[in-house]
Amino acid sequence: MSDNQRKVLITGVSSGLGRALAESQLQAGREVWGCSRRVPEELVEKGLRHLELDLSDEMGAAPLRAWLPEGAVWDLVILNAARLGEIRDMADTPLSDLRLTMEVNVWSQKWTLDALFDRSAVVRQVVAISSGASQSGNRGWNGYGISKAAMNMLMALYAAERPDTHFTALAPGLVETAMQDYLGGLPDDPRFSTVARLKQARGTSDMPDAATCAGILEEVFPKLLRRENGSFVDIRRM
Ligand SMILES: NC(=O)c1ccc[n+]([C@@H]2O[C@H](COP(=O)([O-])OP(=O)(O)OC[C@H]3O[C@@H](n4cnc5c(N)ncnc54)[C@H](OP(=O)(O)O)[C@@H]3O)[C@@H](O)[C@H]2O)c1
Repeated sequence: MSDNQRKVLITGVSSGLGRALAESQLQAGREVWGCSRRVPEELVEKGLRHLELDLSDEMGAAPLRAWLPEGAVWDLVILNAARLGEIRDMADTPLSDLRLTMEVNVWSQKWTLDALFDRSAVVRQVVAISSGASQSGNRGWNGYGISKAAMNMLMALYAAERPDTHFTALAPGLVETAMQDYLGGLPDDPRFSTVARLKQARGTSDMPDAATCAGILEEVFPKLLRRENGSFVDIRRM
């Protein structure tokens, strides 16, 4: 198969890292399929095949399944879409908000993968974008931390079921995106000391922009295939 026939699926292509990955994969001549609630018109004009999809609602599984081509060979699937929620204590976080975060960051990945495997001939590699928050348990990261830890386990479980597909949960390091705009806009609060550290990282090489990070990740994706299937990998420790 020639390089430019390779199919790549990316969730969350309307902003940040997912958008930058979609753009660079299109530039590399890949056939890029992507979903998000907002439509990235500029990328659609460049050839992105886009589905408007709300990943918080499992009713989206049916239109997703119908949109996916039957019998396709996917070179790479990047499960990137996520919501951060608010930085606050567990006790101040409504259960409804934790559930919403789990729907988007974990359960949508389950129904996306199920639809994909149901429709596809081959899925070579799945990379779920994780976070250091899946490990750290820092105060304030409530549903996001829980969801990313659960997502890491979800990848390990799919890897155990599907040895012909390589799965990784990959923490990309800090990236200058809308998520960091939210964190950067928070008032200083001694309870949430990690937020202050993130603010300090903005504008430094510790927090590249999305396009730079996408370039780094693309070099890393093939290397992940040498890791044990279903692993969690933090790019800062590679
Ligand atoms: N930025 C960082 O420093 C950082 C660090 C570690 C890990 N990450 C991870 O990197 C990934 C990308 O984050 P980002 O920083 O690029 O964030 P971002 O700019 O906020 O982008 C999030 C993407 O997810 C999509 N999304 C969110 N909720 C959705 C929903 N309900 N249905 C469909 N799509 C939805 C958004 O699309 P719509 O709003 O259009 O639906 C958007 O395209 C995430 O998994 C995040 O956890 C980021």
